[in-house]
Amino acid sequence: MAKKSRPCVICANWKMNKTIQEAAEYVEKVLPEVQKTKSTAMIAVPFTAIRPCADLVKDSKLHIGAQNMNDATDGAFTGEIAGRMIKEAGAEFVILGHSERRNIFKETNALINRKIKRALDCKLNVILCIGETKAEHENNQVEHVLKSQLTECLQDVPAELLVSTLILAYEPVWAIGTGLSATPEIAKRAEEICRLVITDLYDSDFQNQLPIIYGGSVNVENASMYLEIDGIDGLLIGNSALDPVSFAKIIALS
Ligand code: PGA
Repeated sequence: MAKKSRPCVICANWKMNKTIQEAAEYVEKVLPEVQKTKSTAMIAVPFTAIRPCADLVKDSKLHIGAQNMNDATDGAFTGEIAGRMIKEAGAEFVILGHSERRNIFKETNALINRKIKRALDCKLNVILCIGETKAEHENNQVEHVLKSQLTECLQDVPAELLVSTLILAYEPVWAIGTGLSATPEIAKRAEEICRLVITDLYDSDFQNQLPIIYGGSVNVENASMYLEIDGIDGLLIGNSALDPVSFAKIIALS
């Protein structure tokens, strides 16, 4: 693989999959491969699996995180979970703005912005997901969508708080769970747009250190193609990463 200026990040997003027992079996299977890699390996697990997985990865190079959190510290929000709760349970990071949260649970950029601020308050690292829908893609609105998502999600969040805590995941919605992965050209163009917007919002120093990863129907066969792209610093993987053997193989490719 071509030499990169930033460390490579490989993150699994389990979504609503795996019981505590299944999670533990998975983590034990991938740990040997994770220990060998120079990349940063992460798994976003269901809330119930955070504590058991965090205990299992103690003193290893595998990082455990959550897939969502509420923007409040506590209160009357039946069924919700606070950042400080997932932090206490052992999460090191949280995925925010995933398209399934945006589309199914109607999360707005404004809400995601509040969640990012709360997550940083709780000393959680953030993987911020952005990406256009199929219709937006077909109507040439990629630049506009990425710009407004980034601007609104990061509003009033100073660079000092985001250095080494933020990872940006470009996930075209039409590629998530569909088997329709983006071409390297599409991923590269989105990465370039993101870097321009981030330079505009902050500065080029901050942009230079910001990891930008790709997600959307990544698998063992196509992972290397994305990892080769200059400026793309890793992968966010759903379906293919449910199998520990596939996840370990992708880590080995990185
Ligand atoms: P997928 O999911 O790899 O199944 O497309 C990616 C994601 O939702 O982060």
